[in-house]
Amino acid sequence: DSKTIKKPDDGYLKTISAKIDELVMELSPTENEIQEKEDLFKKLEKICHELFPGSTLYKFGSMSNGFSLKNADMDLCLVMDDASVLTAVQIVETLGEKLRMENDFKDILMLPRARIPIVKLKSARSNISCDIGYNNVLAVHNTLMLRAYSDIDERLKKVAFLIKYWAKRRKINEPYFGSLSRKVPILPVLQRLPHDFNGENNVQGYNAYFFKDISKLKSVWKGVGRNKQSTGELLFEIFHYFAYDFPVKEGVVSIREGSVLSKEDKNWTVTNNTKTDKYWFCVEDPFEITHNLGRLVDRDTLYDIRGEFMRACKLMNQNASLEDICKEYME
Ligand code: CTP
Ligand code: MG
Repeated sequence: DSKTIKKPDDGYLKTISAKIDELVMELSPTENEIQEKEDLFKKLEKICHELFPGSTLYKFGSMSNGFSLKNADMDLCLVMDDASVLTAVQIVETLGEKLRMENDFKDILMLPRARIPIVKLKSARSNISCDIGYNNVLAVHNTLMLRAYSDIDERLKKVAFLIKYWAKRRKINEPYFGSLSRKVPILPVLQRLPHDFNGENNVQGYNAYFFKDISKLKSVWKGVGRNKQSTGELLFEIFHYFAYDFPVKEGVVSIREGSVLSKEDKNWTVTNNTKTDKYWFCVEDPFEITHNLGRLVDRDTLYDIRGEFMRACKLMNQNASLEDICKEYME
C-alpha cells in the first residue's frame, strides 16, 4: 500500500544518481555504432534519391531524439515531393525490390498496406535493423520535440534512458516519457509556450506546433534551472506516480497539456470490460490527439505493468541497487 512507501533518504538517492550516470555511459551507443548508422543512412539516402528524384529521407526515433540505447534500431522516413504521383504501395514495393538486389542489405520485408507503409531491412555488415516508413511525418516532428525537451535539461535524457532500459529489462517494453510535470517543474510544456505566429503547424491535418528555439527558452519560461532534484529522486517519483498516483481508470496522460485529461471527455472509456478494450491505459499522442499510444495495453498487461512500477518503488524504498531494480525478468 502506498502509505507504507516513504521517500528514500538523500544518501541513497545520491548513490542511485551516480549509478544512473554510469549506466547511461555504459549503455549508450559506441562511436563505431553511430558511424555504422551514419554510413547505412548515406547508402539508403543515395538509393532513395536515385529511385525517386526529389524525395527526402529523414532520420527520426531514438537515433535522433537523444534517448538511444546500444543496438537500437534505425528509424527513417521517406517523403516524396509534391509532384509525385506514386502510391504508397508502389513506393514501398519499388524500394523493397531495389534493396533486395543489393548485397549490403538482408532480411528485407515490405509492409505496403500497414497504417504506416514500411520497408524493414538489416545491414548485412553491421546487422543494424532499419525501418523505412513512408510519409511518417508526424513521427519526425515528435522526434524533434523530444530532442528539444532533452536539450533543455539533461536529467530528462538520463531518467528517460533509465526508464527505457528498466522497461526493456522488466519486459514491459512500451517506453514512458510522460509526466515529468511537478510542483517545481523540470520541463515546460513546449506545445503550450508562446509563439510569434499563430501557433499552428499543420502536418497531415494535425497541429504539430511546439516551441523549438531552446536557446530562447529563458525568455518565455521562468522555470529554467529552478528544479534541483537528482535523477535518482526523479526516478523514484516516476515509479511512485505510475504505481500509486496516476488515476489509470479515469485519466489520460497528455504530453500536449502536460497534465492528465479525462477518458470521458475524450470518449476513451472502457466499455465492455473485456481484454480487447482499447482504453485500459491511455496516453495521448502529442500531435495525433485522436490516437491512443497505450491501445495495445489490455487488462492483464496493465496489471503486470503497474506491478512492475510497484516493485521498483518498493525496491528503492529498501535502498536496493540499480542492478536489482533492473534485474532481468525470468518466467
Ligand atoms: N512513434 C510514434 N508513435 C508510436 C510509435 C513510434 O510516433 N506509437 C515514433 C516516435 O517518433 C519514435 C519513433 O517512431 O521515436 C521510432 O519508434 P521506436 O523505434 O519504437 O522507438 P525509439 O524512440 O526509436 O526507441 P528505440 O531506441 O527503442 O528504437
Ligand atoms: Mg527506434
